[in-house]
Formats: sequence, C-alpha cells, structure tokens
Amino acid sequence: MAHIEEHPILGTMEKKKYVTVKVDGREIQGIEGEPIAAALLANGIKIFRFTHKFNEPRGLFCGIGQCTDCVMEVDGVPNVRTCVTPIREGMEIKTQHGFGKESTYE
Ligand code: FES
Repeated sequence: MAHIEEHPILGTMEKKKYVTVKVDGREIQGIEGEPIAAALLANGIKIFRFTHKFNEPRGLFCGIGQCTDCVMEVDGVPNVRTCVTPIREGMEIKTQHGFGKESTYE
C-alpha cells in the first residue's frame, strides 16, 4: 500500500487498524475508517465505475461527495459514494456499470 506514514510537516502517522475488503473479487487492505476511495487509490485502483451512456471510465473527482463520479456497488448496494463512505472489514466492493445492478433506472 502507498499510504504516507512519515510526513515532514505532519509527522509520523499513528498506528491504525488495517481492514481487508474485496474489490471485484481481489482482496486489498485499507485503514479502518478512511474513505473507500482512499484505500482504492492506495492500492492502485483508479477506475471506480463506467458511465451508463458511453461506458466511459470514472474515478475520484471532487472527493467531497458532490459529483457521483466515485460511485460503486458496496455490499450489493449501487451508487455508494466511495469518497465519503468509511471502509469496514469484509466489505464487498464492485466496479459499477451504468446505474448499478439493482437500479430501477435501466
Ligand atoms: S468523487 Fe465526487 S462524489 Fe465522490
């Protein structure tokens, strides 16, 4: 993982609890409570969803829960904003295609 643990101004990051989640079937680790998006980026995952109309890739954009570019399917629920959703042990996260599998909009 690529978290910054030593910073010249902020100092040393205090010890955190790591959690394991699955992303499209692949296990990755994140720091408990950090946004899902932060854990994905730290593990080299930059594409979170594909658009409904043109199947274009999207990832982190605003980072504050406003744009919906980061939405994914989390534990079977589509359209979860991963930039503002804390990561928890055992989550099942999937790249979202279109409006998501449980959407009534398709
Ligand atoms: S990146 Fe914009 S809502 Fe998450």
